[in-house]
Amino acid sequence: MRLDSGKELILRKIKDGTIIDHIPAGQALNLLKLMGITGREGFTVALVMNVESKKLGKKDIIKVEGLELKPEDTSKVALIAPMATINVVKNYEVVEKRKAVPPEIVEGVLRCRNPNCITNKPNEPVKPRFRTVNFKPPKLVCEYCGYVMTYEDIVKQLLSEQ
Ligand code: CTP
Ligand code: ZN
Repeated sequence: MRLDSGKELILRKIKDGTIIDHIPAGQALNLLKLMGITGREGFTVALVMNVESKKLGKKDIIKVEGLELKPEDTSKVALIAPMATINVVKNYEVVEKRKAVPPEIVEGVLRCRNPNCITNKPNEPVKPRFRTVNFKPPKLVCEYCGYVMTYEDIVKQLLSEQ
């Protein structure tokens, strides 16, 4: 369903900014928090939750006028919304479509949940490093101790650190 065409109009097109589409239903607010958007920055933000999607059944969409998402934020977005498409809009046209694929190796973004892992020892300069063993939903394995980080672990940790 086109949300912005003819009778289906829900949200107007934006002129310049970022649209994150194909977000798992119910994750839009988590994603906004992760992107550090509180509403106090002055961006015009539009949010649609639980709309029909061919691919996902239901999905959420975020449109932020005036914001250009930093490339390093793409991998964080991918960890919460692994099917998301990040659309960069310039002068009403989608000029770039980035797939939010979780990186094969996630380094430095998350901490290992195993308290005995070497990456959690205060005197060891070892950066946490995980291998992605499942993409949708993301599931990561610690390269040092084998601890498995589930999607729920990942979402909880990313959000608690904002
Ligand atoms: N969009 C917008 N403002 C624009 C251009 C696009 O709000 N100036 C929105 C569209 O409504 C759509 C999303 O950005 O929700 C992606 O646009 P587009 O690539 O044109 O749509 P699709 O081809 O349907 O995207 P996809 O194939 O990724 O589902
Ligand atoms: Zn570990």
